[in-house]
Amino acid sequence: MKFMLDTLNLDQISYYQAILPLAGVTTNPSIIKKEGKIDLFHYLSEIKKVIGQADLHVQVVGETKDDIEQDAQTIIEQLGTETFIKVPVTEAGLATIKSLKKKGIRVTATAIYTEFQGYLAIAAGADYLAPYYNRMENLNINAANVIHALVEEIHRTSSKSEILAASFKNVGQVNQACRKGAQAVTLSPSVFAQAFNMPAIQQAVNDFHNDWRDTFHTENIHS
Ligand code: E4P
Repeated sequence: MKFMLDTLNLDQISYYQAILPLAGVTTNPSIIKKEGKIDLFHYLSEIKKVIGQADLHVQVVGETKDDIEQDAQTIIEQLGTETFIKVPVTEAGLATIKSLKKKGIRVTATAIYTEFQGYLAIAAGADYLAPYYNRMENLNINAANVIHALVEEIHRTSSKSEILAASFKNVGQVNQACRKGAQAVTLSPSVFAQAFNMPAIQQAVNDFHNDWRDTFHTENIHS
């Protein structure tokens, strides 16, 4: 499983970079908005320095094929050809995904709410597909079933596309996406924090520590 961070907050990225087996950072304009009116490409360059070889996924804003292609061109000029261009699977987006893939550009097909969008993105050759787990559940769409169907389609067509499941609000949703075969997930820092904040985990660590100290009267093995 590849774990990515769905944030642009440099402090949080630095913090979790030291902790997680981090495969990448994903952004969208709403995530960028949370950081204010930043110098985007300078900011993203700083993030690249922090994450090293991990992947960066940056979303286009344009709504026509021409605008999306120009956004993609700008992102690549500023951040390099290894950057994944996130393109929403709309009509114009799908047309652009086809065209970007012909040029060998890395693409993450995003804003996926339906199986059908996913099937089209796979056929268009997207490298990653980002189904929106929590947003689907909010619309009474079975997100786990959508991921399962897309994983089956990838296998059936021997496609190289991978599922980068996104839009999680809790760890249970992430577990479901993993079980259904998603190859990657992107999580906000708050979901990672949630995962480690289970009182039973810290209680177990405290109990082990106390038992050691009671027995050996030291705080750790090396002292
Ligand atoms: C991923 O890159 C998506 O843009 C993101 O996970 C959407 O998350 P949200 O539903 O919390 O806005």
